[in-house]
Amino acid sequence: MDRERTWWKEAVVYQIYPKSFNDSDGDGVGDLQGVIDRLDHVESLGADVIWLNPVYESPQADNGYDISDYRAIHEEYGTMEDWEDLLAEVHDRGMRLIMDLVVNHTSTDHEWFRKSREGEDGYREYYYWRDGDGEEPPNNWKSGFGGSAWERDEEVGEQYLHLFDRTQADLNWDNAEVREDVYEMMNWWLEKGIDGFRMDVVNLVSKPEGLPDGDPEQDWTGIEHFANGPNAQAYLEEMAERTYDDYDTMTVGECVDVDVETASDYVSADGPMDMLFHFEHMFVDVGDRWLSPAEWDLTDLKAVMSHWQTELDGWNSLYLTNHDQPRIVSRFADDGEYRRESGKLLATLLFTLSGTPYVYQGQEIGMTNYPWSSLDELDDLQSIGKVEEAMEAGEVDAFEEVQDIVRARSRDNARTPMQWDESEHAGFTDGDPWLAVNPDYEEVNVAAAERDGDSILQYYRTLVDVRDENDVLVYGDYQLLIPDHEELWAYRRTLTTDGGTDEVLVVLNFDDTETVATLDDAERAGEVVVANYDEVPTTDGVLTLRPYEARVYELE
Ligand code: GLC
Repeated sequence: MDRERTWWKEAVVYQIYPKSFNDSDGDGVGDLQGVIDRLDHVESLGADVIWLNPVYESPQADNGYDISDYRAIHEEYGTMEDWEDLLAEVHDRGMRLIMDLVVNHTSTDHEWFRKSREGEDGYREYYYWRDGDGEEPPNNWKSGFGGSAWERDEEVGEQYLHLFDRTQADLNWDNAEVREDVYEMMNWWLEKGIDGFRMDVVNLVSKPEGLPDGDPEQDWTGIEHFANGPNAQAYLEEMAERTYDDYDTMTVGECVDVDVETASDYVSADGPMDMLFHFEHMFVDVGDRWLSPAEWDLTDLKAVMSHWQTELDGWNSLYLTNHDQPRIVSRFADDGEYRRESGKLLATLLFTLSGTPYVYQGQEIGMTNYPWSSLDELDDLQSIGKVEEAMEAGEVDAFEEVQDIVRARSRDNARTPMQWDESEHAGFTDGDPWLAVNPDYEEVNVAAAERDGDSILQYYRTLVDVRDENDVLVYGDYQLLIPDHEELWAYRRTLTTDGGTDEVLVVLNFDDTETVATLDDAERAGEVVVANYDEVPTTDGVLTLRPYEARVYELE
């Protein structure tokens, strides 16, 4: 494990999805000025780094992950001056800003794609153009959003590859000119003073020669070929060397279908990035396909996350949600009676595992999933694409049949507007919000959480302090206890330095009933470092945990 001390290991990251964060001009869409207006909130949480989802010029088919100009700001979000103001304001507050880097694909509105389509000198090879067999696609790869990964272009008379929406064409990284253009653009942003990148689906950039057919049994057909492709490691190393290696940055790459072994190549001390986002824990409640429900159980979640805790040769990034995932209290705990306790329980987990915690907007006030009741209400290409695909295949006739799974899984759960106060549209906008506001906003909002001394929000602040004050929570080793327990997640963190050994015990009850922990470490439980219930009974070696109770003890 990588123990060298660096700022980004000690940091807490706050993720802002600008479209849904705060609208300053009443058009119903969040914007950069809106972000600036709410920086007090982010600072008061104790965040050190802001990850800003894409704000570049884009037709917004996939909310900015379809970029048409990497060096311009999307009009609805403001101007480059607004962005520069934001960077200055963030830096003035002693925080840092990392930008989303989306270079596996561009929008089909990007100049490169237009030139490629028109066959302009050297540009055809910027993307993957292939002849299908008549109307048939060149291979059986699927888009992550459902349907074929190929789209016929009438003008060219060939098909181009898109691993996501048909407006997101995959760049051909085997073409050295593409890589050069990408590095030049990255350096342009680094020169502007940003503090790093979150790198979108970055392990998909290398596709194997001949683009062979994938296993049709895989939900995302072709994934075994395009994830961690033959040159992925080499291209990422080249990218690091040519760009951010010369700066004091933080980088985190989103990696699809990556296991601990492959991940270690990417993030070990001499690997090309500092951290990565894997998905293994995000699949514990997903069946073979996006639309197939699966019960999750705590032992699986513990096993997956513990494996990464102990086996990764590198530094973990810790996330339970983001703009692509449902809300955590709804997903892993209880968004009803025990919303407060369970929101704090999950926060305790996030801040006491080994790695850098990422908090997604709204998580700090315990926002919940939205009760979607028709496809029309949704904006997310993935949910719509997956449902439409199943309808076309005759597997589903009506939305009602998949309503439960869409409610549980849709990315739009994370994208409903941030809930600031009790006023109309939760204080997000004076206009009509681009996506519905969750009906629970009168109860769940920042203003209410500020007034309530016992809120989830206040608890996040406490956790940030606790992590700052306890090195063992940042740099300590992780050891899972009672792995087979179905309700409790218990672990020990241990840090040995010249000054001696510090140990803490974390015990989390994921059940809505009282649960007794029988574990040897309880005998050594000393002072309570942090807990999500007010009064913590002293222990005599027996820990009786109330519903969703979380406790962190010093070990004596
Ligand atoms: C990543 C992004 C997601 C986007 C996709 C395609 O998974 O997080 O929001 O739709 O890549 O760019």
